[in-house]
Amino acid sequence: MWPIVWDWLNFAIRWVHVITGIAWIGSSFYFIALDLSLKKHDGLPEGVSGDTWQVHGGGFYHMQKYTVAPASMPEELTWFKWESYATWISGFFMMCVLYYGSSELFLIDRNIYDLSQWQAIGIGFGGMILGWVLYNFLCNSPIGKNDNLLSVLVFIFVVAIGWGFLQVFSGRGAFVHTGALIATIMSANVIMIIIPNQKKTVAALLAGKAPDPALGMQAKQRSMHNNYLTLPVLFLMLSNHYPLAHSTQYSWIIIALVLVIGVVIRHFFNMHHAKKGEPHWTWLVATICFIIIMWLSQAGPVNNEETASSSHAPTETELKLANAPSFDMVRDIVISRCSMCHAQEPVWEGLTITPKLVVLEEDADIVRHAELIYKHAGRSNAMPPGNLTSVTMEERDILAKWYEEAIGSPRHFLW
Ligand code: HEC
Repeated sequence: MWPIVWDWLNFAIRWVHVITGIAWIGSSFYFIALDLSLKKHDGLPEGVSGDTWQVHGGGFYHMQKYTVAPASMPEELTWFKWESYATWISGFFMMCVLYYGSSELFLIDRNIYDLSQWQAIGIGFGGMILGWVLYNFLCNSPIGKNDNLLSVLVFIFVVAIGWGFLQVFSGRGAFVHTGALIATIMSANVIMIIIPNQKKTVAALLAGKAPDPALGMQAKQRSMHNNYLTLPVLFLMLSNHYPLAHSTQYSWIIIALVLVIGVVIRHFFNMHHAKKGEPHWTWLVATICFIIIMWLSQAGPVNNEETASSSHAPTETELKLANAPSFDMVRDIVISRCSMCHAQEPVWEGLTITPKLVVLEEDADIVRHAELIYKHAGRSNAMPPGNLTSVTMEERDILAKWYEEAIGSPRHFLW
């Protein structure tokens, strides 16, 4: 595949995913705050459980909530569901392009577990589906009647899943899969529970029957889970840029602490929007958890005895890259211009860990990261930062041509 087109596709999906994620989380935060701010008082129309006034964009809004449904259904009704579905779909595409397409680079870490590409995909995708099935089972079991007990079990469940993924995937792959699993639960809550229950309620009303209140209660419970899980998901998704979070010895405890932080911060805003006070202790708890996270992350890398390159069987492309006639020049460039920073133990002043965990020391490291080298130093001047090691244009050209020739990619994709 042409690496330049692939890279842009990757960026486009990421862009869409962030946009849909903002739309989903934004509307969900808005509705939670709106719901909590509704006030009950005399003189409300029949069926209205509360109302509130809001001002935005030059006008005033008078919001009223019909708890079950209005006496007659409005002709036009806006459903908020595509924000969630589109976020899941775009996220899934990104997972395929990035983590399943380049699983050797981002998902599999042979120092942790020797998985084939298909095994890794099976565990990742299967885990997401199984996660939802187990979660849903837990919520529908008798335990689901006790909100607090259920919340504690969901918490333990997510941490256990995170721990499990960390035993088989790279730290980065494990964190993103834990995030994806929570996001799958959240999206499935919308598509499988919240929206169908709402539809059943509407159908019962249209048929002139009293809707089953259990439907509303179930939807509310799932909505509450979604509310509290939002912030941890965002942390887990963004964490792939932060190796200290996902690839240190206590990363699984970091997941647990992030869940706590997410929950207490949401709790603060829920209380604030409901005008039930300002529980400032939540910020103290969040800060303490964050300090513990920073402290734990100092424990250092997981199982660093063997380097990944030594146990990795080279792929066909990697062999081509290593045997290319220009490889000697490429090695010289990388060793003289990149390795001082991109080493297991960087010698560059001020660098304590390998940037982005991209080690460029051995031949195997260089061929393994060929595509990244191509994009960051061959076809762009992103690396080294500020061209600190004075890479020349000729050298960049050598890096680019080496990769293009080995994988048979044209220099330009349209002409
Ligand atoms: C002065 C130190 C330094 C040198 C020299 C250097 N890098 Fe980097 N590199 C960094 C830092 C710091 C980052 C992390 C940047 C960030 O956080 O966005 C990085 C990140 C990267 C990444 C990962 C980018 C990503 O977002 O995944 C690649 C690939 C990379 N460098 C390749 C190279 C190559 C190839 C060279 C030599 C031509 C090189 N670097 C030279 C410091 C350096």
